[in-house]
Amino acid sequence: MSFITTKDLCELKKRDEKITVLTAYDASFTRHLEQAGIEVLLVGDSLGMVMQGHDSTVAVTMDDMVYHTSMVSRARERALLIADMPYHSYQNKEQALENAKRLIKDGGADMVKFEGAGDLVPIAEHLIKNDIPLCGHLGLLPQSVEELGGYKVQGREQSAADKMVQDAQALVDVGVEIIVLECIPQALAKRITNEVNVITIGIGAGKDVSGQVLVLYDLLGITPGKRPKFSKDFLKELGEGKTITDAVKSYVNAVKDLSFPGEEHSFN
Ligand code: KIV
Repeated sequence: MSFITTKDLCELKKRDEKITVLTAYDASFTRHLEQAGIEVLLVGDSLGMVMQGHDSTVAVTMDDMVYHTSMVSRARERALLIADMPYHSYQNKEQALENAKRLIKDGGADMVKFEGAGDLVPIAEHLIKNDIPLCGHLGLLPQSVEELGGYKVQGREQSAADKMVQDAQALVDVGVEIIVLECIPQALAKRITNEVNVITIGIGAGKDVSGQVLVLYDLLGITPGKRPKFSKDFLKELGEGKTITDAVKSYVNAVKDLSFPGEEHSFN
């Protein structure tokens, strides 16, 4: 079976079918995600928090990301595979290209993702010109959580919202085809999705985006500590005797039939 491509995701967007994305960090969970029909696997640097026990993502290294991406890659059958570039791994064009190549060649990713725009746009352009497919990430940027003053909704003020739309457009202008929008008002996510020609994947961004992503451990209720408002424990909701695959299928169905995310998982 061939792998899902960005072109396939564009087709889903064109026919208004929501795209399903989940984080994956190892081979066993990846098999469950594949069985449940997840279309995109994201090896997120959230693994630093949910697997390694750090209180942010900044301790995650390139070696960690290559290791986890290769485990996911070994078990994936059909889904598009995106891997996060960790903190300080894309500070200049040469370093970013070398590290992105590792995630693709050694890790087996189809695409890499990094957080932010602005000064990073020339780096994004350099990667894409060198045949590295790149996914953007705007809104709440976990690698910059200190500078952002904590895990807070981003883009509530008009000037910040306008800037985010411009940032999304700047990424698209250099060839970015997918952007993750994290923790932003749903009206802003809708505006980016409608005004910018890009596939938007929301997490805490409401339902007017092209698709949804969640951290797998939040969906299964095994994230240590407090679960974010925008997530949902799908396994608990199903009740006794249900499997991980059942919970992931329930997420897939809820994203496809627009019952997730609800108002209670979104921000105004
Ligand atoms: O690292 C991660 O899991 C992510 C998602 C929250 C989008 O970037």
